[in-house]
Amino acid sequence: MLAVAVLAAGKGTRMKSDLPKVLQPLAGATLVERVLGSCRALDPQRQILIVGHQAERVEQSLSQHGGLEFVLQQPQNGTGHAVQQLLAPLADFEGELLVLNGDVPLLREETITALLERHRTSQAAVTLLTARLDDPTGYGRVFADASGHVSAIVEHRDCSEEQRANNLTNAGIYCFNWSKLAAVLPQLSTDNDQGELYLTDTVAMLSPAMHVEVADADEINGINDRYQLAQCEAVIQQRLRRHWMAEGVTFVDPESCTLSDGTRFGRDVVVEPQCHFRGNTNVGRGCRIGPGSFLENASVGEEVEVLYSVVRDAVVADGCTIGPYAQLRPGTELARDCRIGNFVEIKKSQIAAGSKVNHLSYIGDAQLGENVNVGAGTITANYDGVNKHRTVIGAGSKTGANSVLVAPITLGANVTVGAGSTLTKDVPAGALALGRAKQLIKENWS
Ligand code: UD1
Ligand code: CA
Repeated sequence: MLAVAVLAAGKGTRMKSDLPKVLQPLAGATLVERVLGSCRALDPQRQILIVGHQAERVEQSLSQHGGLEFVLQQPQNGTGHAVQQLLAPLADFEGELLVLNGDVPLLREETITALLERHRTSQAAVTLLTARLDDPTGYGRVFADASGHVSAIVEHRDCSEEQRANNLTNAGIYCFNWSKLAAVLPQLSTDNDQGELYLTDTVAMLSPAMHVEVADADEINGINDRYQLAQCEAVIQQRLRRHWMAEGVTFVDPESCTLSDGTRFGRDVVVEPQCHFRGNTNVGRGCRIGPGSFLENASVGEEVEVLYSVVRDAVVADGCTIGPYAQLRPGTELARDCRIGNFVEIKKSQIAAGSKVNHLSYIGDAQLGENVNVGAGTITANYDGVNKHRTVIGAGSKTGANSVLVAPITLGANVTVGAGSTLTKDVPAGALALGRAKQLIKENWS
């Protein structure tokens, strides 16, 4: 049997934030989501989150996450005190307890799996994860012999000068034999610089205690402040870009672009500098994105070009070209081969194949048929101050420059709208609609 406990009760004082530390986001997911994600493959029987500081808010943030038990730690008197809170809920539990600090978000699934396997084969009382860090400042130091047996962990602030020179660092990830840990947990003392109960002190009380060193020291980065948060973000971003480069995506200037875990690319996509992908964004084969574009929950087909534009919660089919300087807002759906040009904003509108909105337009709450040509500066006046209304434009219609279509309004197929018109009434198919003052000429006026 396996139980997983994530320590997430601390305040995160060094973040200087109103947000509990474990809710800080990294590449679109919170620290605690990432930590939980890193042990998903283990399929544990019990998953426990130890909460304390802003407990409700932390619980709330994970309401979509099934099968979690929440255990309250009040007050927060250290990592050992946190795990003591499990004595009651795990009273009848037998097996291994995997303990993860809630602020160590870069662990790979494979690493945790390897830790658990090593723990099981060596039959240790505790097996913990370590790394050799170039700069271990702030971390607990692990004292171990050449065969991997650990004698003690000493916190940075409790170390002597000599002990600090040891760079074998405690990751804050442990696999315990639960009944052995439960037997020593009540013996912890607050005899240390912080006056807290340290989980790390149990290691010297358990035998055998073993460690597993990770090859990639980045994995054990703990986040205590904003600088470490930024460092972890950089590591995640680099992992994501490398993954997609290996899948056949070109990044012209990788470091200038950011991705989310939920971003997916087809082959031969070219990402130009300064592009940002958020949420669940899909970009199909052969697209060219950027420079300077922002896509969030965007679904982009194949061979699409997006230049200096924003696409959010929108669907763009194959062969479209977007921008420069376009904004596709939520609910925009473009069928194949549409052309959305510069300084155009589209919201909650369906635009059928081959239509063009090339210059300086606002199209909102509209439905456009195929091969519509929206003239420069055409605006759908969709809002009467209280309600939003729909505009429908039939296939093959053309609006002249600077037209205003006051919704609700329907233009049939193959309608032509004269430039500068303000239309308030429906127009039947095939008609010419003019809605502007007649031009007046007064000769010899000057
Ligand atoms: C801890 C380890 C240190 C290790 C480092 C790795 C101890 C005593 N020290 O130090 O050896 O190198 O992690 O990152 O364990 N928490 C609670 N309740 C509490 C206190 C903390 O749930 O009362 C949670 C925090 O929310 C956090 C985690 O435990 O997620 C670690 O606490 P933190 O104070 O950051 O420990 P470190 O000083 O980093
Ligand atoms: Ca920490």
